[in-house]
Amino acid sequence: MRPMRGEDIPVVMGVETAAYPHPWTEGIFRDCLRVGYCCRVLMASEEIVGYGVMSVAVGECHILNVCVHPQAQRQGLGCRILRRLLAIGHSRNADTAFLEVRASNRAALGLYSREGFCEVGRRRGYYPLAGGREDAVIMARPLVAGAGSPKSD
Ligand SMILES: CC(C)(COP(=O)(O)OP(=O)(O)OC[C@H]1O[C@@H](n2cnc3c(N)ncnc32)[C@H](O)[C@@H]1OP(=O)(O)O)[C@@H](O)C(=O)NCCC(=O)NCCS
Repeated sequence: MRPMRGEDIPVVMGVETAAYPHPWTEGIFRDCLRVGYCCRVLMASEEIVGYGVMSVAVGECHILNVCVHPQAQRQGLGCRILRRLLAIGHSRNADTAFLEVRASNRAALGLYSREGFCEVGRRRGYYPLAGGREDAVIMARPLVAGAGSPKSD
């Protein structure tokens, strides 16, 4: 994995639009880089196959995006990106990690549960959905030593 750069954004957008029914815009990625969020790309054979975006502030980190190209999913890469972000958060003195995920996103809920996140709340009808709205599930996990410190690989 390496830091995301501005010139990566067109390729990142290709992965984003292939993986999400409701993708981020290019402007969101540019803003994340501009404000200094932790943005990492995962390379395989010199191609970007996934990435993660996280903010870290006042003892908390917020996982904002974890994404793997559909053709590379279910090979442990999402798990690897997530663990790397959590290790970076831990190294920057965050003691808790938070994230929000669509209630219908079974893959992401499976990944986050497996990695120790628990539901701590919901935002009712937070996300737009074709023909309606759906809840955001708010999840958290501790990063403190003794409570399952994140592994890095
Ligand atoms: C969520 C996502 C990042 C997972 O990436 P991945 O590389 O496929 O995940 P991994 O191979 O590391 O899987 C880790 C675990 O997550 C869970 N998981 C992953 N995909 C799953 C699926 N389709 N259904 C159920 N559980 C799933 C499983 O517990 C899996 O462990 P297992 O393979 O041993 O059963 C990927 O599906 C993705 O990019 N989705 C689109 C973007 C997205 O929704 N991101 C999350 C936004 S909050």
